[in-house]
Amino acid sequence: MERTFVMIKPDGVKKGLVGEIVSRFEKRGLEIEKLVKKELSREEAEKLYSIHQGKPFFNDLVEYVTSGPVVIMVVSGNSAISIVRKMLGATNPAEAEPGTIRGDFATDISENIIHGSDSEETAIREISIFF
Ligand code: RTP
Ligand code: MG
Repeated sequence: MERTFVMIKPDGVKKGLVGEIVSRFEKRGLEIEKLVKKELSREEAEKLYSIHQGKPFFNDLVEYVTSGPVVIMVVSGNSAISIVRKMLGATNPAEAEPGTIRGDFATDISENIIHGSDSEETAIREISIFF
C-alpha cells in the first residue's frame, strides 16, 4: 500500500474537473484518504516546488499555483504513486496520451491541471507539507 500527494491546480478547479478527477481515482480502485480545498500561500507553493527553484519557469509556476483555489488530496492504494502518475499523463499535455487527465483536459505545459508526487520520498515530503 502506498500514499501519494495529488493537487488539482487552479485551472483544474476553475474548469470544474474536481468531481471528474476524484471519480477517475475512485473507479481505478484508489482511496481518497484526505481532501481539502484551499488557497496555497506563497510559502507553501515554494516549498512544494522547491526542487524547481532557480529554473526559468519557477516564478510563473508559483504565481500559477497561488492564482486561485486548489484541491489537495492524499490518495492511497496498491502502487498508488506510479498509478496516479500514469493517470495524469506526461507533463507536457501535447505528449500526454488520450485517456490520461492531461491528455483529455489540457493543452499547455505550464497550466496542466494536476500534480502528483513522483516518488515515495517525494510523496512523504509533500504530504507532510500539507497534512
Ligand atoms: P508536477 O510536479 O506538477 O506533478 O508536474 P511534473 O512532475 O509532471 O513536472 P515537473 O517537471 O515537476 O514540473 C512542475 C510543473 O511546472 C510547470 N512547468 N512548466 N514552462 C515550462 O517549461 C514548465 N515546465 C514545467 C508545470 O506546471 C509542471 O507540472
Ligand atoms: Mg514534479
